[in-house]
Amino acid sequence: MPIIAAQNVSVRFPVGRRKVLTAVDDVSISVRRGETFGLIGESGSGKSTLGRAIVCLERPSEGRVLHEGANPYEMSRRQMREHRRQYQIVFQDPAAALNPRMTILKSVREPLDAASKGTPEERNAIALEMMARVGLGEAFAGLYPHQLSGGQKQRACIARVLTLRPSLIVCDEAVAALDVSIQADILNLLAELQQEFGLTYLFITHNISVVEHISDTIAVMYLGRIVEIAPAERLAKDYLHPYTQALLSAEPVALPSSMRPDRRIVLEGELPSPMNPPSGCRFRTRCRYADDHCATETPPLRELAPGHFSACHYAETFRTRPGQEEGGE
Ligand SMILES: Nc1ncnc2c1ncn2[C@@H]1O[C@H](COP(=O)(O)OP(=O)(O)OP(=O)(O)O)[C@@H](O)[C@H]1O
Ligand code: SF4
Ligand SMILES: [Mg+2]
Repeated sequence: MPIIAAQNVSVRFPVGRRKVLTAVDDVSISVRRGETFGLIGESGSGKSTLGRAIVCLERPSEGRVLHEGANPYEMSRRQMREHRRQYQIVFQDPAAALNPRMTILKSVREPLDAASKGTPEERNAIALEMMARVGLGEAFAGLYPHQLSGGQKQRACIARVLTLRPSLIVCDEAVAALDVSIQADILNLLAELQQEFGLTYLFITHNISVVEHISDTIAVMYLGRIVEIAPAERLAKDYLHPYTQALLSAEPVALPSSMRPDRRIVLEGELPSPMNPPSGCRFRTRCRYADDHCATETPPLRELAPGHFSACHYAETFRTRPGQEEGGE
């Protein structure tokens, strides 16, 4: 049984009096225990909203998210409070996640304090153990967030969620704000912790090169929908959606040449508004292969190889079709 099964999840937000913004639109994904599931897409595509729905910070407007088969919203309030502790989130900005007036030890211990688990001495011991595990020795206990580097603050945030012994951690752009060398340190740390604690990760990023190496499965999101899902090692070589092609080609430096499409394809135009998405295929306003059919019929996610799904009418053939506009070199 998957640890997470999102089933036809939509999340809508009221905007003003009459308008509705659909941030996540009919998304179904399933995440296996122990895997790293990468979720990529441009800013505004709905990644964080889906991540928040998965850890019960956002209630789906439609559909449901099952945690090992159980719907948290069908539990009693007490059960749900207990249950949610196993599903944690680490954000991009560690400074915002830590209280500037609390010592690092107190911040790391805080979730245990809130859960009233054990005696204060026991909580201190667990917090110090988790700090040590992420590379923050006792010398950091009495320091305040402003006395730590960005990488150290993110380590403190990771220690903080680990105190609750979660099963799943959503890492929402968890390394995006860090220097590239520090990013690698944190990614390595997360990989070690995954082994040690049997963690499952949902790794959210707009930078495909970050998730490519650490993910087992990657889902590509565009304007609230999943447009492609594949085993990570397949996606780079055998992408089956024009949006994935554009994302891959937009990272010319970070990707090894074997993974780059032949030509750089420039993604033109802005992401359309999720309040008024294009008819048919949502990517059509920026897709170089779009035709009339794409405007009238929404392409469903189709499984074209084991575990590899694409929502493009021309998934099998677009790479050999003439583009309607020329991409740059
Ligand atoms: N609470 C909210 N109320 C209204 N609109 C929201 C709310 N939260 C998110 N949105 C909108 O939903 C859409 C998706 O936002 P979301 O933050 O999930 O995207 P994202 O893919 O995480 O983007 P980024 O890469 O910038 O973090 C955006 O258009 C955003 O403005
Ligand atoms: S369905 Fe049409 S518009 Fe959408 S990605 Fe495929 S070719 Fe492009
Ligand atoms: Mg986000």
